[in-house]
Amino acid sequence: MNLLLINGPNLNLLGTREPDVYGSTTLSILESDLTEYAQSKNMQLDCFQSNAEHQIIETIHAYAKKVDGVIINPGAFTHTSIAIRDAFLGTQLPFIEVHISNVYQRESFRHKSYLSDIAKGCIIGLGVKGYYLALDAFS
Ligand code: DQA
Repeated sequence: MNLLLINGPNLNLLGTREPDVYGSTTLSILESDLTEYAQSKNMQLDCFQSNAEHQIIETIHAYAKKVDGVIINPGAFTHTSIAIRDAFLGTQLPFIEVHISNVYQRESFRHKSYLSDIAKGCIIGLGVKGYYLALDAFS
């Protein structure tokens, strides 16, 4: 099974960004540990992060026929992006939505997701462990 991990805006700052909310694991450690975890399960994981909506959309298009599914933390685009929703609808790529923090314990503008209702599943508020659980869910 081939999977793609997408992290959206500001997740490149993991480790130093609001550590009380997002923890101390950096994105590069998360990506390398998750890639190793995938290999241990005979899965192949590609990792991508961008702060730009159009790059996330183009990456979903480019991977549409190359992977079996996507694990995505869309960051703040979760709450704004009809375009990322349309990319998943257009490619029919199955995806799991992950949020490190419990968005429902936070500001009300974080309670709306343009992706959750079309996701295979959502893992919210369990810290970076959510990414590993998403991988397990695809295996
Ligand atoms: C986040 C939650 C979003 O509301 C926020 O904009 C993020 C990170 C999370 O992982 O908890 O950037 O997706």
